[in-house]
Amino acid sequence: MSASHGDVVVIGAGLIGLAIAFELAERGASVRVYDRGEPARAASWAGAGMLAPYSESIGNAVLLELCAGSLREYPVFVERVRDASGIDPRLHLDGVLHAWFDEDRREEFVAPDAAAGVAAEVLDRAGVIALEPWLGAHVAGGVFVRGEGHVDNRRLGRALVTACKARGVTISQTSTIHIECDARRVRGVGTDLGFVAAASAINACGAWAAQLSGVPSACIPPVTPVKGQMLALAAPADFVRHATWLSGAYLVPREDGRLLVGATVEAAGFDERVTAGGLQRLLEAALTSAPALGSFAVTESWAGLRPGTPDGLPFLGPTAIDGLLLATGHYRNGILLAPITARLIADAVESGGAGELLQPFLLERANAEEAAARRISHA
Ligand code: GLY
Repeated sequence: MSASHGDVVVIGAGLIGLAIAFELAERGASVRVYDRGEPARAASWAGAGMLAPYSESIGNAVLLELCAGSLREYPVFVERVRDASGIDPRLHLDGVLHAWFDEDRREEFVAPDAAAGVAAEVLDRAGVIALEPWLGAHVAGGVFVRGEGHVDNRRLGRALVTACKARGVTISQTSTIHIECDARRVRGVGTDLGFVAAASAINACGAWAAQLSGVPSACIPPVTPVKGQMLALAAPADFVRHATWLSGAYLVPREDGRLLVGATVEAAGFDERVTAGGLQRLLEAALTSAPALGSFAVTESWAGLRPGTPDGLPFLGPTAIDGLLLATGHYRNGILLAPITARLIADAVESGGAGELLQPFLLERANAEEAAARRISHA
């Protein structure tokens, strides 16, 4: 343990909250995690586990750098979680293909720089088909990003729960959770199970982060849910070899034989239903790009809520209330960003401040924008 951090409470037992709890517990902190639902569910369970900052075409340079940094940390993170839990989260960093069905897509691709630990190869039509022979007549070309990949997020969730418990973290389910603060600092967290004092409380509530009760208004992150529907097909082993972006859908192969097809992007409030229209859009996108998928059985469908933010960047780090930190708003990159979020938030808990890497992700930016908007509307 490099610094004193007192007792820490993490609110939200998704991959982000669990990764923070695991990191802090490994550094010697006493950590409790609370969630209203089961641990490692919600978006952490619903995602596809794609680890692909470059092929996902993240346009914001600061976010791209955060995502690329987290990708570099993934192998060691997974090894630590596997060692502590005995569960293999099945990390595959064998490359991600972004297939183009229109030559213009080439313009959108941001090539990684040499230091990123990945390498991109632009492929013509024949090159794409050699890599993934099931891609049909419509494919125009693509880019193959070596070093990107995917992780089985459901296994990672189970592994993190076990790893946290092995490191002494308590994980509790409770139907009510509220933060208690005085004018300057956090005092603790109240739940059905009683009040626990805490030197630090971390809001890792994902799409529900703005709903956490007891938080002073200046510390409420403007996070809103963005629904994603997905389905799974039963595909022959190795039919799809690499995670692949199509036009309007992506595919992620799992070792257990499921081929995940994702995902819709919908502003639908907290509606988590799987809808006929959502599945239709997903299947239409996938089958238009890859008709060969049409004969496979649909084995599962589900929906989850991503935590969206006004500018697409997560909210990470300290707030105006001492000891109250944010780790939310990861939108489409929560699984990818778990390792770096855990490390940076643990550093912030230990130091009581925000290091340089956290500066672009502080809540202050949203409060400053809101104040500027108010000034303009009163002018
Ligand atoms: N990261 C993929 C998705 O949000 O659908």
